[in-house]
Amino acid sequence: MKVPQFRSYVDESDYKNIAQVFERNYIAEGPLSVEFRDKLVELTGANHGVLASNGTLALYMALRALEIGAGDEVIVQNVSFIASANAVEMTGAKPVFVDIPQFDDLTVDLDKIKLNKNTKAIMLAHLFGTVCSNVEAVRDFCKQNNLFLIEDAAQALAITNGTTHAGCFGDAGTFSFYADKTITTAEGGLVVTNNESVHERMVYLRNQGRKSSGTFVHPEIGYNFRMTDIQSALGLSQLTKLNDIISKKQRIAELYHQHLGANVRFLKIRDDFNYIPFRVIAFVNDAEKTMKHMNEAGIEPRSMFYPFHKQPSYAHYNLSPSEFPNSEECFHRGICLPTWVGISEEQIAYTSEKLLEAL
Ligand SMILES: Cc1ncc(COP(=O)(O)O)c(C=O)c1O
Repeated sequence: MKVPQFRSYVDESDYKNIAQVFERNYIAEGPLSVEFRDKLVELTGANHGVLASNGTLALYMALRALEIGAGDEVIVQNVSFIASANAVEMTGAKPVFVDIPQFDDLTVDLDKIKLNKNTKAIMLAHLFGTVCSNVEAVRDFCKQNNLFLIEDAAQALAITNGTTHAGCFGDAGTFSFYADKTITTAEGGLVVTNNESVHERMVYLRNQGRKSSGTFVHPEIGYNFRMTDIQSALGLSQLTKLNDIISKKQRIAELYHQHLGANVRFLKIRDDFNYIPFRVIAFVNDAEKTMKHMNEAGIEPRSMFYPFHKQPSYAHYNLSPSEFPNSEECFHRGICLPTWVGISEEQIAYTSEKLLEAL
């Protein structure tokens, strides 16, 4: 049996929705993008939202709209996808990496933060299907210390702590609609904010420094972070399947928990937070050895994110592994299990069997 790490969940209804765009002959950003944006804003409960070309540029746009740049420092969770840190670098600011509190608890350890006069913001990443366990404490810490809170919620669409949607706890939150995300537009992104002036700055930044296309007077310097109606058509039809996607993903997690529960540790998820697995994470004693055995059996597990302090691209900061023991443990123990919507119950059982065999 083969079990790929991931397969996109796109079907005939998505295809038909995209075909409509060709019939209308409005293929770049247009009415469908407005509709898609408005539906996402409603889903998140944010006051404002702007679409972006992808989740990485969404992060960059949010940081720029908060006027973060050269000379500033941004605290970044040491375990996240590379884009969380790269977006900070892109602005000219410095990412300052902070360890996670435990190997199975992916958030910034508030006790390890060292502030200085250049610290401007904290970037949290809500990873793998839940909201960071200490999000309320991080929000309070940011308020007390006059810091912006930026949330990388690329993987966290439709995820809340019961009251607030991921991405809406702080000053700006970003999402990705890459092929493996909860809903996809192939590539795409979103920034939400409750702050009117941050929203206004993003409107200019994303569209060449002007409020709307078709004019050639540009009050500000801006870029092109727009999406297309082709992508938004896909996003809109994906949104109609969101509830189905959520229940299928939750069922996958339930099955992995049934098969593996007694033998592995799973990601820490607070009882009062909802959980829509992006990937189910299993922590074992030796992830590398376990994944090797699974690979040989035709399964594609994936490692956890390589922590920033180990990244070759961040070697210039000369970070010592001794400052990041929990990130080290997370990397050595964590395995991303195949969690795509169309995976069969047999594939889940087989993946679990081979993981247990390896143990
Ligand atoms: C946590 C996180 N941040 C940022 C990104 C970047 O998003 P994109 O691939 O759309 O640029 C991703 C996904 O790929 C992600 O998982």
